[in-house]
Amino acid sequence: MPSAVRTIGILGAGRVGTALARQALKAGYEVLIASTRPQAESALIVELLAPGARQVGTEAAARDSDIVVLALPLGKYRSLRPETLAGKIVIDAMNYWPPIDGILPEFDRGSSSSEVVRRFLPQARLVRTLNHIGYHELEEQGRPPGHPERQALALAGDDADARQAVAGFIDRLGYDPVDAGELAAGQKFNAGTPIFGAQLRHDEMVSLLQRDSLQAKAAE
Ligand SMILES: NC(=O)c1ccc[n+]([C@@H]2O[C@H](COP(=O)([O-])OP(=O)(O)OC[C@H]3O[C@@H](n4cnc5c(N)ncnc54)[C@H](OP(=O)(O)O)[C@@H]3O)[C@@H](O)[C@H]2O)c1
Repeated sequence: MPSAVRTIGILGAGRVGTALARQALKAGYEVLIASTRPQAESALIVELLAPGARQVGTEAAARDSDIVVLALPLGKYRSLRPETLAGKIVIDAMNYWPPIDGILPEFDRGSSSSEVVRRFLPQARLVRTLNHIGYHELEEQGRPPGHPERQALALAGDDADARQAVAGFIDRLGYDPVDAGELAAGQKFNAGTPIFGAQLRHDEMVSLLQRDSLQAKAAE
């Protein structure tokens, strides 16, 4: 049974990182946020864009949080230190976006980018989610449970307890979590899929994820 999640550590104080920080603070979490900028600049960004969050170094954001979120450009994933994230529940919110990341052959093979990230962070309990919603929407579309406009967010990962903990976090952010299963299923919500950027209710998300599985089975 996963222990209670109280503190969220976010690596990356950009658009997604600060929007997620604000939303997590609203949901009652303690938020630690780390960036690569010089300390004073970083502290100012957090003070202005995510007041209430605590600006810390990457190591502290990972060490002192219950869930760590990767909100940095995917092309920079090798700047992470795998030992810092060993054993941690880690949300991979990153997407492969060649105009920003450049052409990275390791991500050009059709699978989910999270599987490549997992090979680099083999001991992290990686869950792919939050990647298929825009940072504006993340903050604007959250709704309480049972609300008719509440949207769904898909998640995938190989560690069932980590998926459960992340599902609880998604729920408190204002979204219905939909468990897509193992990390490989994360490719169903890659950029360019029908799920990516779509505003879907729970049942619509479930049926799109299932449709994808049926099509994959039929193609075998
Ligand atoms: N934009 C969206 O709506 C959206 C939605 C879902 C997912 N995503 C994905 O989320 C990720 C972030 O997107 P974004 O739009 O937020 O990008 P962004 O605005 O460029 O922010 C990324 C931040 O990560 C920081 N960073 C880089 N390496 C780091 C490290 N090792 N540790 C901590 N921070 C680091 C960058 O700092 P420096 O400026 O100092 O390098 C920058 O502040 C991308 O992978 C993107 O595909 C984006």
